[in-house]
Amino acid sequence: MTGGMGALGSHVARWLASNGAEHLVLTGRRGEDTPGALALKDELTALGARVTLTACDVADPDALTALVKELAQDDTAPVRAVVHAAGESLVSGLEESDPAEFARVMSAKAAGASSLDALFDSDSLDAFVLFASGAGVWGGSAQGAYAVSNCHLDAVAERRRARGLAATSVAWGGWAGGGMVDAAAGSTLTRMGLRPMEPEAAVRALVQAVERQETCLTVADIDWDRFAPAFAMAGPRPLIEDIPEAAAALRPPEDDREAPEAAAGALAARLAGASDAERKRMLLDLVRAEAAAVLGHPAADAVDPKRAFREMGFDSVMAVELRNRLNTATGLRLETTLVFDEPSPTGLRDRLMRELLPPDAERTAEDDEEAQVRSMLATIPMARLRESGLLDALLRPEDPGTPPEQQAPESDDRVDEINAMDISALVRMATRTKEA
Ligand SMILES: NC(=O)c1ccc[n+]([C@@H]2O[C@H](COP(=O)([O-])OP(=O)(O)OC[C@H]3O[C@@H](n4cnc5c(N)ncnc54)[C@H](OP(=O)(O)O)[C@@H]3O)[C@@H](O)[C@H]2O)c1
Repeated sequence: MTGGMGALGSHVARWLASNGAEHLVLTGRRGEDTPGALALKDELTALGARVTLTACDVADPDALTALVKELAQDDTAPVRAVVHAAGESLVSGLEESDPAEFARVMSAKAAGASSLDALFDSDSLDAFVLFASGAGVWGGSAQGAYAVSNCHLDAVAERRRARGLAATSVAWGGWAGGGMVDAAAGSTLTRMGLRPMEPEAAVRALVQAVERQETCLTVADIDWDRFAPAFAMAGPRPLIEDIPEAAAALRPPEDDREAPEAAAGALAARLAGASDAERKRMLLDLVRAEAAAVLGHPAADAVDPKRAFREMGFDSVMAVELRNRLNTATGLRLETTLVFDEPSPTGLRDRLMRELLPPDAERTAEDDEEAQVRSMLATIPMARLRESGLLDALLRPEDPGTPPEQQAPESDDRVDEINAMDISALVRMATRTKEA
């Protein structure tokens, strides 16, 4: 086992020792100096296996050849299975990684797989297992070289099968319990919809895959509601479309809009009574508050209105989350690419303005002025209105001399009627003056 003293390698070694492996040869560049290696050796020995810890760089074909030759001299336990779990990751886009970094990531995993393939080129093995990654299946942000090296593993497995040899390449989602996916990477993956897998379950899946002679497969625990919309943001994704849970997550939501409608109704009412300037401010506040919540900022003012969402750290999962929040708040059905189509909060605010309030040709400067006065009135506390006598004047019954059919109706009807009045009618009513 290459990488046999790493996190995933150790789990597989435990399973092998528990299931009758006679001799386990665990390799890594550090050999028995790897932290925890000696304790692992004791544990595996107690399970009944003979254990050899070897320092061997799998990227060095000569060192690997020497090790395989040495093992071949042991007639009592010839090599019957190869597990290639050595690898290094690199979080960097292809255009950012320099050739040396690219080579480093390729060498252990991809070149190592090719060397092992060449060294075990006859039908002598029960299993030839390669540890690949979902990064090579669905792609991962800033995982250019790493994705390429994992795809190479799939190609090696396909070629071996085509030659009639054992080969299984498993592209893993994240495993729980440490290793390449540490706590920070684990929470990023979870946010993307990739739930960490319990090692025991993952090893069981591996055993099944080998027993069924699978060549290339992906084993991941995916929360499709999270993963699929972000993954399909850039366009159709035939890769996942025939997975029922993914297809369901990509279907437009049913018209179950009660809750969004309540929030959207309140927003619409506030917008209706506001001037253009206030509408702009209200919608920008909304965008900034929701963006802050997605980014985990405590307050909306942490979101610069002019800064591009990408620069603020928005990725596709966050873009979908912001879109969902804005759909709920506005009642609109906005597309998932919204955040990248309208790059800054101000641009997004303008888009919401256009969607929610199509330009009104009839709207005049007077209307704006009225909206301004109405919203100013709304900011005056009720007690002040009452003190000033304005409230009493508004709600006072009509003159007793007014004929009943001309009197304003009581209670709710009256409030509705007052709501519908324009400013000049309100002022006339409050001051009891007749229209000139
Ligand atoms: N952890 C996950 O959730 C996850 C998910 C998808 C795929 N994978 C894949 O699964 C494999 C194991 O991952 P892990 O989480 O167990 O990583 P890990 O704990 O870092 O173990 C990797 C091991 O590979 C060894 N290694 C690295 N370069 C080597 C080289 N040139 N020659 C020999 N050994 C080398 C390291 O030992 P030395 O440093 O001593 O050489 C280390 O013990 C990797 O290929 C990884 O890409 C892991």
